[in-house]
Amino acid sequence: MGLAPLKETFASALLELAEWQPDLPFLDPLCGSGTLPIEAALKGLNIAPGLYRKKFGFQRWKDFDRDLWEELITEAKEGQLSQLPAPIFGSDRDSDIIKQARSNARFCNLERHIQLMQKDLSEVELPSDRGIIICNPPYGKRIGEVDELGGLYKLLGDVFKQRFKDGRPMF
Ligand SMILES: C[S@@+](CC[C@H](N)C(=O)[O-])C[C@H]1O[C@@H](n2cnc3c(N)ncnc32)[C@H](O)[C@@H]1O
Repeated sequence: MGLAPLKETFASALLELAEWQPDLPFLDPLCGSGTLPIEAALKGLNIAPGLYRKKFGFQRWKDFDRDLWEELITEAKEGQLSQLPAPIFGSDRDSDIIKQARSNARFCNLERHIQLMQKDLSEVELPSDRGIIICNPPYGKRIGEVDELGGLYKLLGDVFKQRFKDGRPMF
């Protein structure tokens, strides 16, 4: 994980709140360990929440219906897509964190679906003519970070205004 990873459930809730639909290209230019692009890819490929999990507590209930459960799992797997409807991008200036993001994507079997790049925000271009940007910028939790934040937030504003005129920044 990166230094300040989002909880997966929180990242997923942000995507819902943003009303992002998977046919819209997605970019997180401050992606850290990749939580937002990974959650976006799971949604985009219609991978059911919890499908990676092997065991649930309710499987030990007395009236647990194994056949029904297996039917539901099969149905969920059959509903998965093999390709994303639109591309998903993530970038971060920190090469070690991008390696971590790649490793997390690989762990979820999503490596080929998410384009992760090591890039400073100042170099990022919107990779398509439309799309949504959702990111979780540093907010000064660590000592020393606060001084750098003014410059970073100014850069965020400049980059969004000048390069992403038709994007819908949300963070
Ligand atoms: C709060 S963390 C994001 C955490 C991420 N959502 C996760 O779940 O792992 C903010 C990220 O912004 C990155 N960052 C800070 N300044 C940057 C810049 N100028 N360009 C690109 N990335 C930057 C940091 O490297 C850090 O990974």
